[in-house]
Amino acid sequence: MNKGWRFETNEAQYVSEVLSNGFGASETGAFTERLEHAFARKHNQKYGIGFNSGTSTLHAALEAFGVGEGDEVIIPALTVAMCGYAVTHANAIPVYADVCKDTFNIDPEDIKRKITSKTKAIMVVHIYGLMCDMEAIEKIAKDNGLYILEDCAQCFLATDHRGVISGTAGDVGSWSFENSKHLSCGDGGIVTTDNPILAEFMRQYGGVGFKNITASSGKVRISRDKFQNPDWKRHNILAYNYRLPEICAAVALAQTEKIDWLCSLRKEMGNAYQKIVKQSKTDILIPQVVPNGYTNSYYTFACLFNGEKYGITWQEFRKKYMELGGDGIYAAWQLVYNEPCFKNQKIGWGRAPIAEKLQRNLMQFTCNQKNRSEVEEQASCLLKTIEYFESNKQW
Ligand SMILES: Cc1ncc(COP(=O)(O)O)c(C=O)c1O
Repeated sequence: MNKGWRFETNEAQYVSEVLSNGFGASETGAFTERLEHAFARKHNQKYGIGFNSGTSTLHAALEAFGVGEGDEVIIPALTVAMCGYAVTHANAIPVYADVCKDTFNIDPEDIKRKITSKTKAIMVVHIYGLMCDMEAIEKIAKDNGLYILEDCAQCFLATDHRGVISGTAGDVGSWSFENSKHLSCGDGGIVTTDNPILAEFMRQYGGVGFKNITASSGKVRISRDKFQNPDWKRHNILAYNYRLPEICAAVALAQTEKIDWLCSLRKEMGNAYQKIVKQSKTDILIPQVVPNGYTNSYYTFACLFNGEKYGITWQEFRKKYMELGGDGIYAAWQLVYNEPCFKNQKIGWGRAPIAEKLQRNLMQFTCNQKNRSEVEEQASCLLKTIEYFESNKQW
């Protein structure tokens, strides 16, 4: 089985260029810069900045907003713990907002309820590949003077009803290149923004604080004569080393060159599952609702499992699906506030009753199939599983 099919265009050549340059490219940031330009251009944004993960991106963006001790950042309760980590890394307090029961995305009405005098930013997470209601959230942010950070780790090139691309509606868009994502370089991340002040801060913050890093370039050694001088002072801010390694940037660039293809494969798989579920006679699976005019980029095909109504357990359905050749079904993570690392220390506030109900019953079907025949195979496994339960149960 070829596990490397996603990395068969320019990846190996670019990696070998980094090596044959003896990592010389690291000094000039050659591949990182090429990646940043290509990714930002694809999103019609002025600046792209490579990071070593989609967690460090979130942290750096919050720091760029000036989020600090005592500030509150509203995040959805239904997301990965890393969203909460980023807020706590910035010494701020995560405030958990509920999600909409049909789209599974953060609920703008609950954001409004959770705003206090301490709120500084809203971190939206476009979950499973579908954009949040950014039109409503932009208005809330504007009315209340708040920053918006869009976590697009699971959402590449999705659009809303206005045709706005995920990651370009707020102040900063953040992506992960971890291996399960639409684009991967093993581990990595990137942010985009149109704001030169935020861009410069994020670059310096993730670039160990070198003061000569600018909004558009991560080059450290601009002039050797200036730099190699005992009087040269390098660092103005306390910062982190969140840099994207050149080898990872080389892979991420090759991936960005074929971003449309990689995203179209996910959409093909998502649409195929969607068709099967729509044809089903029962409501055993209720798919994530894609609002009119939106496109879902299908990180995964997410559904609310409704089988308990018919006496079928979540585990039973998953087991049968896999027996019939299904690739696997992911469960939702714990809500952020239920993860022991937050719960035990009572970090953050705000309950999310809808998210609590959803969490136990969510099912995510994989969308990382490599070609039409794999897509058809997975869709047919889902069909067989639904038919199995339909024919074996009393409806
Ligand atoms: C929604 C979301 N945000 C953030 C992250 C963190 O990304 P990384 O694993 O690159 O740190 C992930 C990764 O799983 C994610 O799914």
